[in-house]
Amino acid sequence: MILIKLGGSIITNKEKPLSPKPKVIDKIIKNIKKIHEPIIVVHGGGSFGHYWSVKFDMHTKPASYSPRGVSIVKNSMIELDKIILDSFLKNKLNPYSIPPTDFMFGNKPISKKIHEIEKISKSNLIPITFGDALWYGNKKSFILSGDKIMTIFAKILKPRLSIFVLNEDGLYSDLKSKKLIQEVKNQKLSITENSMDVTGGMTRKVQEATKISGFGLDVFFVNGNKPERIVTAVNGKKFEGTLFRGK
Ligand code: IPE
Repeated sequence: MILIKLGGSIITNKEKPLSPKPKVIDKIIKNIKKIHEPIIVVHGGGSFGHYWSVKFDMHTKPASYSPRGVSIVKNSMIELDKIILDSFLKNKLNPYSIPPTDFMFGNKPISKKIHEIEKISKSNLIPITFGDALWYGNKKSFILSGDKIMTIFAKILKPRLSIFVLNEDGLYSDLKSKKLIQEVKNQKLSITENSMDVTGGMTRKVQEATKISGFGLDVFFVNGNKPERIVTAVNGKKFEGTLFRGK
């Protein structure tokens, strides 16, 4: 089984609120179609959910965030999910949308549900889930990122490969020269300010990738603007991106 995260910055234009990148999405899905094994897709929020969660000052830590914010983030994620689902359908694939409320209880994963999602992926359906605003309990809510969902699924399902599709070639050792790190073996990669952005989403992706590779599983960062690289990586031909080696 292959786990794929479509990052918010590759499927949407992060600079502009509520702007999807339909051509990029379509091209990625055309390449996903060439993968002949079960896959599960997770997507981020980008200029949809991410944009609104910032506006309403909502974070991953459970707290009493604005109920209006929770509604609006959720609504925007459904809107973005619909765009992704339509693109899968248009390419004659069978997406099966699963909001995270289906497999989370507060911030605890429901492992029985997650095992069922794997069965769905083995039945000619492609489970699609996404980062979202979630009810935590006791009038609190929290943001569950798509990156975190990757770690939750990887821990339980042990995918053959976990792929983070980014708007960059991978992880750079130096931001200015954009020198690519091809392979991360040491799981305790230290992220310094000049090695990668500290403010952006990359830090969290590296943290989750490090956790997943810590389970003994390979993780791959790839540029979604060159989606054929997803297929070559899955086929084990070569990795054009950053590989976090699990073993
Ligand atoms: C978005 O998930 C969660 C929301 C803010 C609703 P991610 O945190 O995985 O999104 P991207 O990929 O960084 O945009």
